[in-house]
Amino acid sequence: MNKIINLLVLLVSAITLSAQTNVLQNNYHRQEISLNGHWNYIVDVYETGYYNYRWQPHDGSENPGAGAFFTNAKPKNKMDLVEYDFDAAPTLLVPGDWNSQEEKLFFYEGSLWYKKSFDIPHYVASKRYYLHFGAVNYRADVYVNGEKLGTHKGGFTPFNYEMTKFVKAKDNFVIVRVDNKRAADEVPTLNTDWWNYGGITRDVSIYELSPTFIEDYSLQMDQENDRLLKGYIRLNGATKANAKVIVSIPELKINKELTCNTEGFISFEIPVKKVDKWSDRNPKLYDLTISSGTDLIKDKIGFRQITTQGADILLNGEKVFLKGICIHEENVMRGGRAYSMEDAKVLLGWAKELGCNFVRLAHYPHNENMARLADEMGILLWEEIPVYWTIDWQNNETYQKAEQQLKEVISRDKNRASVIIWSMANETPQSDERLHFLSKLAQTTRELDDTRLITAALEDHGKADNSNIMVVEDAFADVVDILSFNQYYGWYGGQVDNIKNIRWEIDIDKPMIISEFGAGALQGFHGDSLARWTEDFQDLLYRETLPTLAKIPQLSGITPWILADFRSPRRMLIPYQNGYNRKGLISETGNRKKAFFTLQKFYKELNKK
Ligand code: GCU
Repeated sequence: MNKIINLLVLLVSAITLSAQTNVLQNNYHRQEISLNGHWNYIVDVYETGYYNYRWQPHDGSENPGAGAFFTNAKPKNKMDLVEYDFDAAPTLLVPGDWNSQEEKLFFYEGSLWYKKSFDIPHYVASKRYYLHFGAVNYRADVYVNGEKLGTHKGGFTPFNYEMTKFVKAKDNFVIVRVDNKRAADEVPTLNTDWWNYGGITRDVSIYELSPTFIEDYSLQMDQENDRLLKGYIRLNGATKANAKVIVSIPELKINKELTCNTEGFISFEIPVKKVDKWSDRNPKLYDLTISSGTDLIKDKIGFRQITTQGADILLNGEKVFLKGICIHEENVMRGGRAYSMEDAKVLLGWAKELGCNFVRLAHYPHNENMARLADEMGILLWEEIPVYWTIDWQNNETYQKAEQQLKEVISRDKNRASVIIWSMANETPQSDERLHFLSKLAQTTRELDDTRLITAALEDHGKADNSNIMVVEDAFADVVDILSFNQYYGWYGGQVDNIKNIRWEIDIDKPMIISEFGAGALQGFHGDSLARWTEDFQDLLYRETLPTLAKIPQLSGITPWILADFRSPRRMLIPYQNGYNRKGLISETGNRKKAFFTLQKFYKELNKK
């Protein structure tokens, strides 16, 4: 009988394999088999491992040629010709971008193949096996034991594949082709002001799952009623229909049994008495357990309400001012993409030292450690997708790519109390196509998650008849919940010693966030405060800008650009930039610049009001 059930389970899982697998919710707390560590790699500038000499892909062909890297072919005898050998190849650390690991890969943009052998300790044929990537920049083609699991595009969001059908207890291998070439129709597009770090940039894990397991769930406080928790649970597996699920939050004396529908899905409401609400001042997290059949998953969740009222942002019904800073996902001292909890502690620790209760995670979804740590530290978050500058607005495939990344980050972080804002875009040129593109993204966001606020970093400009009066004229301002815009008066246009004379004329009854302002400075370069690249110039710009912004009646937050210097191929000015964007308040050596202390003082004085 068992053999028949096992066969049935294997058959069903094989059918599900063909479908794009939904991203596992909360893999963070699941028992993992980590594939982090040294992976062999082969640089493939001419795509030799993917195409034959007639430029036909080996991928998907009945009998892929001996040159198909994903088969990990070995010569059968001394006459055999195989022109690659992963096991003789050098290694890269995963997670980690290749640019910061290998000098010769510093500027590399192209395809690079990774290979990792693995066993599955305690392998059980009736279990299901998923392969999960925190992120790969930019395109990943994933193969296990020579079988194609799938292709994922998007450099900053998680994805996973079921590989049950293809793995065994020992001697497995995973091969990933990573291609980080930029392209006009991708998201982001060709032109960005950050380093195009390529590679398997976040954790890689295997999850051993029950035949029927808890694939996804959401649990939030109702945004209008703080005595109600709302959520849903989705199971995956052969016995999901009408399955029982138990939701337990011991501290709230909740232990509720629910019954799924025939699709293994249940949406539910749980009335609660007084909940200790999560906030920046009180980052209260509750232990949650969800169990069903042989699967059990734990999480830590904060319950809070985030709404707007006129020009105010209300956190749990109280007006909150967002004392923020922008952050790129880079451990600038080590070099390269940040990915670990240790990296997150450095970056959010610096933000906390600055006096922040808010952080803008620019310009793409950061690794999951940032939202998890922000939940614990009481730091509110703005998360965004890299719809940045001149996206290919007319291209529906480009829209689908943007929407997919949006869905993946919302799916991953929908249970994180710290995330209060989803941002659709950054500094995008206005047009009907762009408005349609962004409005569709906003609509999708509201359909997926109506518990958070929507914004986008727009742009301001001086009035034609009076350049001291700044305006924001953008139809997307009617769509967003919060009007955010980047302003660089004194750095890109305008004189730093005229900042005190400018003001904004914006007739809108919505909260406003100044989502960027700043100036470049080489740390340690002191001198005339009107001389660009001195710390004194950057500090003067902050000292002049902060009180000027404070006069904006709808101002509900600021996120100056940026916490730390970061690498950018657009910033090659010697001796000041040397490949870094220098608008950071902290240098790549971890030294604070003068303006760091000016902003810190400004936030400290805000707290006294
Ligand atoms: C822009 C952009 C940032 C960029 C910054 C700068 O506003 O949003 O990504 O780094 O300005 O020019 O330094």
